[in-house]
Amino acid sequence: MSTQSSTDRKVAIITGAASGIGKALAIRLIDEGWHVACCDLQVEKGEQVVRDLGPNAAFFQCNVIDYDDQARVFTEVFKKWGRLDALLANAGHSDRGSIYILDHRGSSEIPPKPPLISTDVCYKSFLYGVQLAIHFMRKNRTPGGRIVATSTIASVHPHQTFPEYCGAKAAINQFVRTAAPVLKLKDNISLNAILPGIVITGAVPQASIDATDPAHITPVETVVNAYKICLDRENLNGQLIECSTDKHFFLPLPEMANGDATKRACTVWEPLFEAKHHERSGLDGAIQ
Ligand SMILES: NC(=O)c1ccc[n+]([C@@H]2O[C@H](COP(=O)([O-])OP(=O)(O)OC[C@H]3O[C@@H](n4cnc5c(N)ncnc54)[C@H](O)[C@@H]3O)[C@@H](O)[C@H]2O)c1
Repeated sequence: MSTQSSTDRKVAIITGAASGIGKALAIRLIDEGWHVACCDLQVEKGEQVVRDLGPNAAFFQCNVIDYDDQARVFTEVFKKWGRLDALLANAGHSDRGSIYILDHRGSSEIPPKPPLISTDVCYKSFLYGVQLAIHFMRKNRTPGGRIVATSTIASVHPHQTFPEYCGAKAAINQFVRTAAPVLKLKDNISLNAILPGIVITGAVPQASIDATDPAHITPVETVVNAYKICLDRENLNGQLIECSTDKHFFLPLPEMANGDATKRACTVWEPLFEAKHHERSGLDGAIQ
């Protein structure tokens, strides 16, 4: 049970909310009567967004790759509004360096350590947010909540320009599919991911947009609507929703290539689950 008074409005934390998709999500949730905590590295832009959104929004400067920074924000949000209904883990960054080191050919020097910012912003920060969301959603008057992550179509269909980013976003997908049944069963938290196509935001260079057939652009509304499906639809869990142009596609799991042998390699055996997580999973199909 929560020990402090909580607002009647639902409360969402949105990361990467100073621009692009995150800002569009904040606008929609405010329109629908939520309180929204807009988190971003960019202070000026973020503060302008919440000024435009009015008193039900608040800006929190946050570097999502820093666990303590996220923990501070979650704590402040819960103190301010007394509940946490949703985490929209949307902050992202594509490859900063080039893992192909094409311009290092012929050198005998060890190549410099790759920055791996994309891995940190897209994946590690998402896991930090999930753990903090579990902690705070347990304190809700009715324990539970919803977590939605922004992945990308390029997490399923490889995009060779951004190999690190594709890997980091694919990691989100697999984490979502893996952890969702456990979070639902143990803590009444749903976990889903949205996979947008090309959306016109500051993250996509204008020249790249100019080189794209307008028919292949995904309007930001398609993405926001998919998020809303995850927030509104009871029992939607562990899903990857591709957002392509004006369409949503619920992506199926891959087939098990070797039938029962494949299945056994990814079935929970309760003693091991308990050794790792300190209680049994209770999942249907788990082996006692
Ligand atoms: N635009 C597209 O075509 C497209 C396609 C697929 C997926 N996505 C994903 O959508 C999400 C939103 O991207 P967008 O297109 O709106 O781009 P954007 O650049 O407009 O927004 C990203 C936001 O994340 C913030 N951010 C980056 N690193 C951060 C950090 N360490 N801590 C806190 N905030 C940080 C940025 O300041 C920015 O406001 C990203 O996860 C991106 O990978 C975008």
